[in-house]
Amino acid sequence: MIPNDLVRTRIVHLLKTETAPGPVLVKGWVRTKRDAKGFSFIELNDGSCLSNIQVLADDRLPNYATIRKITTGSALEVAGRLIASKGQGQRWEIQASSVTLIGSAPDSYPLQKKRHTDEYLRTIAHLRPRTNKYGAALRIRSQLAYAVHRFFQERGFHYIHTPILTASDCEGAGEMFRVTSLPPGNDRVEDDFFGVAANLTVSGQLEAEMLALALGDVYTFGPTFRAENSNTRRHAAEFWMIEPEMAFCDLIENMALAESMIKYLTTYAMDHCAEDLSLFARFVDPQLMHRLAALVEQPFVRIPYAEAIAILLGCGQTFDYPVAAGHDLQAEHERYLVEHHFKRPVTVYDFPKTIKPFYMRLNDDGQTVSSMDVLVAGIGEIIGGSQREERYDQLLERLQGLGLSRENYWWYLESRQFGSVPHSGFGMGFERLVMMMTGISNIRDVIAFPRTPKNIDF
Ligand code: 4AD
Ligand code: MG
Repeated sequence: MIPNDLVRTRIVHLLKTETAPGPVLVKGWVRTKRDAKGFSFIELNDGSCLSNIQVLADDRLPNYATIRKITTGSALEVAGRLIASKGQGQRWEIQASSVTLIGSAPDSYPLQKKRHTDEYLRTIAHLRPRTNKYGAALRIRSQLAYAVHRFFQERGFHYIHTPILTASDCEGAGEMFRVTSLPPGNDRVEDDFFGVAANLTVSGQLEAEMLALALGDVYTFGPTFRAENSNTRRHAAEFWMIEPEMAFCDLIENMALAESMIKYLTTYAMDHCAEDLSLFARFVDPQLMHRLAALVEQPFVRIPYAEAIAILLGCGQTFDYPVAAGHDLQAEHERYLVEHHFKRPVTVYDFPKTIKPFYMRLNDDGQTVSSMDVLVAGIGEIIGGSQREERYDQLLERLQGLGLSRENYWWYLESRQFGSVPHSGFGMGFERLVMMMTGISNIRDVIAFPRTPKNIDF
C-alpha cells in the first residue's frame, strides 16, 4: 500500500540525502534488471540525474511473479524505504514495498544493449534521450541555458526578444528559409501574408541593435535558421544563438565580454554538471576536464587576421583548403591555430571587409573591419561579432557597395541619424557551446531534434 500523502521524490535528491527518510516514492524507467533466487535488482532512472537508483524487490511482494517479467524500458512506480546500499558506487538503494508497472516496453524496445553508435541513435531521435549520453548532454544544455541568463542578468543586461519572422537578411548572405502563406502555384509576393518576401531570421542582431540603442546592454537568446547547404558536423539549419548587444562599447570591450562569458559558462558547468561531465570525460573525450580547466585559467590569445594568415602560411602544414590572404578561415585553419599553434582559445580580429557583412565598422585602413571571431579547440569558430558601423554615411556606402537595397534597411539606417553611438555585439552558437563543453563532435548530437539538409523526420 502506498500512503496517500506520499509524493514522488526525484532520484537526484534521494541519492544526495544524508540520513534515510521515511517511506519514499519514485517513478522512472527500467535501465536494467537482474534476477536472483527470491529477489530482483532493478536499476531505475528518472532523468533527474545520470545515476540510477537500485530497487530491491523480493518475493514477499504480492506481485513478485509479475515483477520478474518486467523488461528494460518499462515505466515503474516504486514505493519503499531507503536502505544503505551494499553495492559499490551508490550510497542508497530502495527496499521496495510496492512496485507498479505504469507502462511496459516489449522486447522490441531498441535500447536494450548498453552501447549504440551515434549514427544509429540519430535514427531513433525520439528515444535516444533515454540513453545516458544524451540524457547527460541535454541536462548540461539546460544548465548552460540557465547560466547564460545568469551571466547577463548579473551584469545588468536586459533580456529582449527579437522576431523570428523577418523581412531582412541580417548577414546579407541570402541563406534564408522563405516563409509564405501563398497556395502552391501563386508566387505573387503582393498576395502573400506580409505583402513582401518574408523569411526565418538568420540573426536577431539588427533588431537587438535598435534595443541596445534604447536599453543600453541587451541580449537575445533564441532559435536561428540558416539554409546553408553545408553538411558539416558544426552546422545545423536550426540552431540557438545568444546575441548580446552593447551601446557605448568598442571591439576591445566586446572581446573581453566574449571571453568572460565563455569562462563563466565553463566554470558554471564544471560546478553544476560534474556528474554528467564525468560521463563525457570517461567515454567521449579523456582530455575534457583538463581542457575545460585550462580554458578558464588562461587568457585567450588575440591576434589580427593578417597575423593569423601569416602564421598559417608559414606553418608548413598542408590543408584541404589552401590558406590565402583575403579569404575566410576554414574550420581546419581555425583549429590549427587553437590546437597546434597557440594551444588555447584565440580571438582573431580585423578581418578584410570583403569577407564580412555590411554592418561591421570600417577601420581607418579602409580595408579591414572591426570584427572578431573566437575560436576554440575541437570546433573552430564559436563566436562571431563586431563593432557596428555607427556612422550613417559609411554605412550607406557599404550597403550600396554590396548592392543591398537602401529601402530594405531604411529603419536600420535611420537609427544612425538619431543619437547614434559606438556599439558592439556578438553571436555565440549555443550548440557549439554544448559541443565545447562535452567534447561531442557532431552538432546533431547536442540538440534533441537536429535539422540538417534532408533531415527533419523527428
Ligand atoms: O558568425 P555569425 O554568422 O554571426 C552573426 O550571425 C552575427 N549577426 C552575430 C552578432 O554579431 N550578433 O554567427 C554567430 C555564431 C557562430 O560563431 C556560430 O557559433 C553560430 O553562430 N552559427 C552556427 N551554429 C550552428 N549552425 C550554423 N549553421 C551556424 N551558423 C552560425
Ligand atoms: Mg561567423
